[in-house]
Amino acid sequence: MEHADEPAFDPDLFDPFERLVEIEVLGRRLSVPERNRLLRCFQYLSIETISYGDFCWNGDCTNCQFWYREEGQTEAQARTALACRFDVREGLVVTRLDPHVRIKGVTE
Ligand code: FES
Repeated sequence: MEHADEPAFDPDLFDPFERLVEIEVLGRRLSVPERNRLLRCFQYLSIETISYGDFCWNGDCTNCQFWYREEGQTEAQARTALACRFDVREGLVVTRLDPHVRIKGVTE
């Protein structure tokens, strides 16, 4: 039986995907659903912390801010974006996360 306090893993949360893509988050290689916003991918990895996190999901609060670079780029080339607005892509390297973004097994 599901524990009442834990959100159930609901596949309808995610945009339709056929495969997982590999990204790196704070030095860890992780597989997440393709064709989804990055914040959804974080939710896929850590359903509880992201579902209960302080997120507007529509670009207003900036709590989902992250810093990233492409594979092969240096830290000096890192850019920032909002995870709720950002489409995940294979090989993305996330180098820093806003403290609101807590991902089980990565930030805690
Ligand atoms: S969740 Fe609020 S800006 Fe992304």
